[in-house]
Amino acid sequence: MNNEDLIKKAHEAKELAYAPYSNFKVGAALLTKDGKIFTGCNIENGSYGATNCAERTAIFKAVSEGYKNFEKIAIVSSGGEFTMPCGMCLQVMSEFMLDADIILSNDSGEIKVLKVKDFLPHSFVLKK
Ligand code: THU
Repeated sequence: MNNEDLIKKAHEAKELAYAPYSNFKVGAALLTKDGKIFTGCNIENGSYGATNCAERTAIFKAVSEGYKNFEKIAIVSSGGEFTMPCGMCLQVMSEFMLDADIILSNDSGEIKVLKVKDFLPHSFVLKK
């Protein structure tokens, strides 16, 4: 799937966000190496720290269904600007998708393609 189509899936996922506290909706679409797509949205909680970001929702859905090899993830938000993944999501991405493309898109139709290493050049990864 090309980046534009994956971004479209992320926008669809964004519409399902549960974000009554921030009113900031985020959507992610994760493509596995064998062509399957897992989407995710942010799911907030009245106990704010229990909130789950869109990226982690998508990754946890995939891993919990047996998929751990990822080609790329698209991330969009209702903010209209490029939405950078938070530190906690980058840590989770470090575990599963160090080499994957992170595709960011804004409402002007611009696209940035980055890797975890661009954000966290020395991320913590335990040897398996
Ligand atoms: N959020 C995400 O879903 N992904 C990120 O990488 C950044 C932040 C969500 C969490 C919260 O529901 C809202 O955006 C505002 O922080």
